[in-house]
Order: sequence, then structure tokens, then C-alpha cells
Amino acid sequence: MAKKILEVRDLTVGFPREHGLLKATDHVSFSIEEGQTLCIVGESGSGKSVTSMAIMRLIDYAGGIIAEGKITFDGEELTTKKQSEMNRIRGERLAMIFQDPMSALNPVFSVGDQIAESLRIHKGMNAKDAWNKAVEMLKLVGIPEAEIRAKQYPFEMSGGMCQRVVIAMALACDPELIIADEPTTALDVTIQAQILDLLRRLKRELRTATLLITHDMGVAAEMADRIAVMYAGTIVEEGTVDEVFRTPRHPYTVGLLRSIPRLEEEPGSELYTIQGSIPGIGELPQGCRFHPRCPHAMSRCFIEEPSLLAAKGKEGHRAACWLEGIPEVSTR
Ligand SMILES: Nc1ncnc2c1ncn2[C@@H]1O[C@H](COP(=O)(O)OP(=O)(O)O)[C@@H](O)[C@H]1O
Ligand SMILES: [Mg+2]
Repeated sequence: MAKKILEVRDLTVGFPREHGLLKATDHVSFSIEEGQTLCIVGESGSGKSVTSMAIMRLIDYAGGIIAEGKITFDGEELTTKKQSEMNRIRGERLAMIFQDPMSALNPVFSVGDQIAESLRIHKGMNAKDAWNKAVEMLKLVGIPEAEIRAKQYPFEMSGGMCQRVVIAMALACDPELIIADEPTTALDVTIQAQILDLLRRLKRELRTATLLITHDMGVAAEMADRIAVMYAGTIVEEGTVDEVFRTPRHPYTVGLLRSIPRLEEEPGSELYTIQGSIPGIGELPQGCRFHPRCPHAMSRCFIEEPSLLAAKGKEGHRAACWLEGIPEVSTR
């Protein structure tokens, strides 16, 4: 069996309020093996970023707490680490790519210096070796004239180029896990496609375990080995790309799949949208949290919350739904 790089068990993250804890995630569990890319997909507000911030322990700085659960990274428990210990892990063994490349880069240092600095701190390289490695990393992520570009500042580069720099910086220390939270969402559509191409190529070449967060099922289809569908703070379905796309078991997944724009669609035809909207934290309905929006809701769904269970004969394909099978599983 492949080694588990990351194992998240029963992760409950919340924001303490006078009247109690506002839970943003509720007993979230998943794992990522060496070389694997897991995509967490779900609408905005489903708890994807909160989950990633908890793994990186940056949630502490956002007013949140890990109320329950374990996060095991390469055998080490992260939930109990001090921030000083996390500082050594973050950026070296656990790399991050965020939505907005500009906020991840320091405006007053050249991009080459920023990558080199990280190599000097984490890998103890001397200035010259670190600079050469920085240039090499810029080449790897497809930045033309890397030697010249390395001396430029973030404001001299386009958003797409800056995101390439951020990716180069994330990869420079040869991390065991990359967490990328909506890495293409802030970019123009054509640039998005180029960055996705880059991520796919790097995935093939480097096989670094990756947690990729996206609200876009199309992106997940292209990038993921496994997919976890998140809704209102819980994982409602999890499986391989094939399982989730070909035989979805949760009506929410079916809704997301139906909302993917397709090339063969009549121009101007209306895109499917799931009726209703995601509940805010602290406003969860009783029973299944998706039932108010579910086209298949039965009386049981109003009362009892289903747990995430494997399908018969399919250990790895889990769904949290009372339905025995979704009528018309076709996603169209
Ligand atoms: N700092 C915070 N304080 C209070 N609530 C928050 C905070 N950050 C996120 N939330 C809430 O937690 C829920 C999940 O947010 P988030 O993880 O950002 O969703 P996603 O990344 O899936 O769009 C949302 O309802 C959001 O409003
Ligand atoms: Mg988010």
C-alpha cells in the first residue's frame, strides 16, 4: 500500500462565539497518498479554505480553532504543534499556493531573491547556489528568459507570470505536500488554462502529493486522482475521479456535474444551476444538510443526518445519502 502523506480524521474547525462554536467543518476525514492529487470541490462557503487553513495551522491566525480531530502529516501530528514548529514545516515540507499570487509575493524583493531566500532558510544553501536553483525553478515553471526575469519585481510581471513564480517557490524546497487553494480562480480564463497545463505537467514530472481546492468540477476532472465533494462543512461524497464522474452517488455531486459548461451546448442555452443556496455556518437545517435543495429528499432526510459510507463492494467510494441509488444518474 502506498504511504499516506496526509491523513485528516474527524476535523471539526470552528469560530468561537459568545453563544458557542460556529462550526465551519464537521468531522471531515480524508487522506492523500504519495504521488496523489486529491481535489476538494464544492460551492463557495462549503468549508474548503477553512479545511486547508486548518491543515497549515493558519486557521489560528484567522480567529478559528481546531475543536476536534487529527491531522497527520508524514506521521507527525500537526494539531498539537507550536507555531514555531509549523514555521519550519510550512514552506519547506508543506508548500502553499493561494488564489492571489500578488499577495503571496513580497513587493520589495525580486522574484529570484524570494525563491533563493526560501532555499537559504530551509535548505541552508549559500547565496550563489540558492540563486542558481531559483533560476532553474523559474525555467521549470515555464518562465522565458529566466535569468533576466529572476531579477524583476512582482509588479513588473503579469498575474499569470506571478502565479508561475509562486508555484516555483512552492516547489523549490521539494515539499512532500502542496496545498493549492483555487490557484487559477483569480486569473483570466486563457491564463487559467495555461496554469492548469503547467500544474498537470508538474504533476506528471514531479509526482508531488497535492491537495487541490477548487469550486470547478472541470478543473477537478483534469487534475485529480481522487475527489472529495464538500457541502456545508462536510464531505458528502468521495472517490476516484472515475467513480465520482461516472457513478455519482450524492445528488449534490450530480448537481455539480450538471452545472459544468459543455462545448457541445447550444450557444446561449441556460446552464443548469442547483436550486437554492448553501446555508451559512450556524444555519444548518435538521437532518441531511443538503435536503432543502435536494430533488430526491424523502421524509427521513428531514430528520436524520446520513453518514459517509462506502458503496457495496467499493471500499473507496463513499457517500452521505439515504438514497439506495440515484434515479437517472445521468448528469444531463
Ligand atoms: N474568519 C472567519 N470567521 C467566521 N466565519 C468564517 C471565517 N472564515 C470563513 N468563515 C465561514 O466558514 C464557512 C466556510 O468558509 P470557506 O472555508 O472560506 O469556504 P470555501 O473556501 O469553501 O468557499 C463560510 O460560511 C464562511 O463564511
Ligand atoms: Mg475558499
